[in-house]
Amino acid sequence: MKKHIGVLLSGRGSNSDALAASVAAGRIPNAEISIVVSNRETAQGIEKARARGIEARAIPSKGLEREAYDKLVVAALQEKNVDLVCLAGYMRLLSPYFVAAFPQRILNIHPSLLPAFPGLEPQRQALEHGAKFSGCTVHFVDENLDAGPIMMQAVVPIEDSDTPDTLAERILREEHRIYTEAVRIVLEGRYRLEGRRVLVTKQAREN
Ligand code: GAR
Repeated sequence: MKKHIGVLLSGRGSNSDALAASVAAGRIPNAEISIVVSNRETAQGIEKARARGIEARAIPSKGLEREAYDKLVVAALQEKNVDLVCLAGYMRLLSPYFVAAFPQRILNIHPSLLPAFPGLEPQRQALEHGAKFSGCTVHFVDENLDAGPIMMQAVVPIEDSDTPDTLAERILREEHRIYTEAVRIVLEGRYRLEGRRVLVTKQAREN
């Protein structure tokens, strides 16, 4: 049976598009992206998804309390029987209600080596801190910002000549690569959690 992925985004949607390309090419086997949801109507990611024939909806968050909004999004995902939620440049914190609706079934990608540089503009933060390496992190999502158990990371060296934009561009290439890999492992159930540690296994879990 195919697994259903739901993607949430707020902007450009290159990670969403990379996941869609990976599904189409069989790098994420036995899966489909069943719905893409954006909290911003103008997000380019909506058009990118539609161009691939994926159902994409804007659910504007304006004027709604966090939980009231999350109820709408959770309902849209449940309607599509989503097994795994992938945050892809989704610039909102999830409520406990949302997290409880998809236990251990929400992934996020963040463009730094967490726990360093959570939050906004992590590439600029890394440069201004003087870090020599940064990168990206795929992690399970809890109610805290960029904080859940780490699933996968990739390291990107910082060059003296880097600006936030050039660094972001090199990190983004790694984001697209590791997000595909992480989604595949999670959908295949090839991991177990030991405390905060995500251990990748050869065999799928029983459940
Ligand atoms: C990506 O770099 C993603 O890692 C980051 O926003 C960008 C979205 O680009 N996400 C975060 O900072 C979340 N804390 P995209 O829309 O082209 O995928």
